[in-house]
Amino acid sequence: MIPFATRFFLLALITAPAAGYAVDFESEIQPIMKEKCFKCHSGPKAKKGLRYDDADTLAEFIGDDEDAVITPGKPEESKLIKLASLPRDDSHAMPPPQRGEGLSLTELALFKKWIAEGASLEKGETSTPAPTTTEEPKLLSWTNTEGNSLEAFFVRLEGSSVVLKKADGSEFSYPMSKLSVDSRKQATDLSAN
Ligand code: HEC
Repeated sequence: MIPFATRFFLLALITAPAAGYAVDFESEIQPIMKEKCFKCHSGPKAKKGLRYDDADTLAEFIGDDEDAVITPGKPEESKLIKLASLPRDDSHAMPPPQRGEGLSLTELALFKKWIAEGASLEKGETSTPAPTTTEEPKLLSWTNTEGNSLEAFFVRLEGSSVVLKKADGSEFSYPMSKLSVDSRKQATDLSAN
C-alpha cells in the first residue's frame, strides 16, 4: 500500500514532463529556419538585420519593443507569426511569395509553442539530461512534531513510516505522522527521486 503522500508525489512526477516540456530552439526551431528563412535571414546581409543563424543577433529581436519580431509568451502578437501565417499570396507573407516555401501548419504550431513557452534561446529542458542522482547520500536533519531533531540518512518510505539510517549504520523506522511538516516533505521528496 503506497501512502497517500507518495502517491500524490508519483502522480506529480508522471504529469510533470508534459507541463515542463520546452521546445528547444537549436534542435527544433533553427533547423526549420535554416531550410526556409536562412536564405535571406542569415549572415551579415540578412534582411532587416534579422539573423536566425546567430542567437545573439536574434535575441535583439525578441522582446516587447517596436523592433521585436518575437514577443515571448504572445505568439499571436509576434510579427514573425503574423507574417508567417499570412496567406501564401499575400505580398507581406514570409517567406515572400514565390521566393520560398511557407511554414507548414506543424512548423507554425511548433514556432507558436516555442514563443508561448517564452522563446528561449537556451537549451530546452528536453535535451538536457536529467540530473543524475549518483551523489553520495547526505546526512540530513529530521525534526519531529515535538521539535526534537536528529541527523540521519533517508533510506525509503515504508507504509506510513520513513526508514532512516543513523551515521553509525543502524536503521530505524519512524512514523511519518510524528514528523514535522518540513521533514515529512523532505521524506516524500526523497522517495520520489
Ligand atoms: C527570399 C527572401 C526571404 C526569405 C526566404 C524569408 N524572408 Fe523574411 N524578410 C525578407 C525581406 C526582404 C524582409 C523585409 C521586408 C520589408 O522590408 O518589409 C523580411 C522581413 C522579415 C520580417 C520582419 C522584420 C522586421 O524587422 O520588420 C520577419 C519577422 C521575417 N522576415 C521572418 C521570416 C521568416 C520567419 C522566414 C522563414 C520562415 C523568412 N522571413 C524568410 C526576405 C525573406
